[in-house]
Amino acid sequence: MSETLTITRPDDWHLHLRDGAMLAAVLPETARHFARAIIMPNLVPPVVTGAQAAAYRDRILAALPEGMAFQPLMTLYLTEDTDPEDVAAAAASGLVRAVKLYPAGATTNSASGVSDFDRVRGVLERMAEIGLPLCVHGEVTAADIDIFDRESVFIDRVLDPIRRATPGLRVVMEHITTAGAVDYVRAGGADLGATITTHHLVINRNHILVGGIHPHYYCLPVAKRETHRLALVAAATSGENRFFLGTDSAPHTDALKENACGCAGCFTATNTLSILAEVFEREGALDRLEGFVSRHGPAFYRLPENPDTITLTRGAPVQYPTGIETGDGPVTVFDPGFDLHWRVAP
Ligand code: NCD
Ligand code: ZN
Repeated sequence: MSETLTITRPDDWHLHLRDGAMLAAVLPETARHFARAIIMPNLVPPVVTGAQAAAYRDRILAALPEGMAFQPLMTLYLTEDTDPEDVAAAAASGLVRAVKLYPAGATTNSASGVSDFDRVRGVLERMAEIGLPLCVHGEVTAADIDIFDRESVFIDRVLDPIRRATPGLRVVMEHITTAGAVDYVRAGGADLGATITTHHLVINRNHILVGGIHPHYYCLPVAKRETHRLALVAAATSGENRFFLGTDSAPHTDALKENACGCAGCFTATNTLSILAEVFEREGALDRLEGFVSRHGPAFYRLPENPDTITLTRGAPVQYPTGIETGDGPVTVFDPGFDLHWRVAP
């Protein structure tokens, strides 16, 4: 006898789809289960203007296989030269749903990000006026700050000052990794939300470093201690509507991951919902999975929930491929390290 769980179709509030051959290979992995996703703009060169976002959206839709439905929710990459009026026009047309802040040098393809926050003040004020969310990669980049402290230092030195200086600015703290970030979100008002990834609910820093270096567990922000993972699991499964799924599924080819200077990013699109169901089940919180993956995100982004549903069934362990083939080379699928019993019914 199998158990089933039917939930509103989910969305992914933080996704890297890349471009070209990689886009074509990874898009179906998300579109199979998710109706919509917030699409990260860290292409090379980045998606900075409304016109660039429109062109990227068209490339995504052109790469969507016949018969699949998917709505890309576009974002703009904030630079010190971003024009507030271009942002406002792209938001007014419904094309763009958020602006992404990368501190310069924080992560993959972030060289065009912000160094001097005073130079983006005009954009942030315009965004506060129109209610357009700012998605924040919350890590400082200063060489003297330990990589495991970069999120907490960012909250104190950058995020909190920006939020105080810009009343009404709506902020999503992306891919939070610390108990401190969970506390900060809880202490904030309705203008503050946070995405949590699938992999940060599963791995801590030991998974990356014990018994050899495991490059497929390396991502940014880097996974922290087990106490932090437990705080993230508690937040995700709490039912609090300020926490929602953003997988940060970030494909890199195996050649670029298994490398003397391996790229940051875990590719989780393929098995994310099976992993999340397992995590929520273990917490006795399966009834809260729908909130985390399907309801809290639309509420924050002021979008309707999806009209249709998906059904998960519990049974014998599901075998996912260990990787997918792309035109750029193989990409390894995130291995949670435990059996997955929930599958999404076709
Ligand atoms: C992302 C990527 O590869 O684009 N990598 C990652 O480790 N998460 C960039 C990002 O979101 O930081
Ligand atoms: Zn990301």
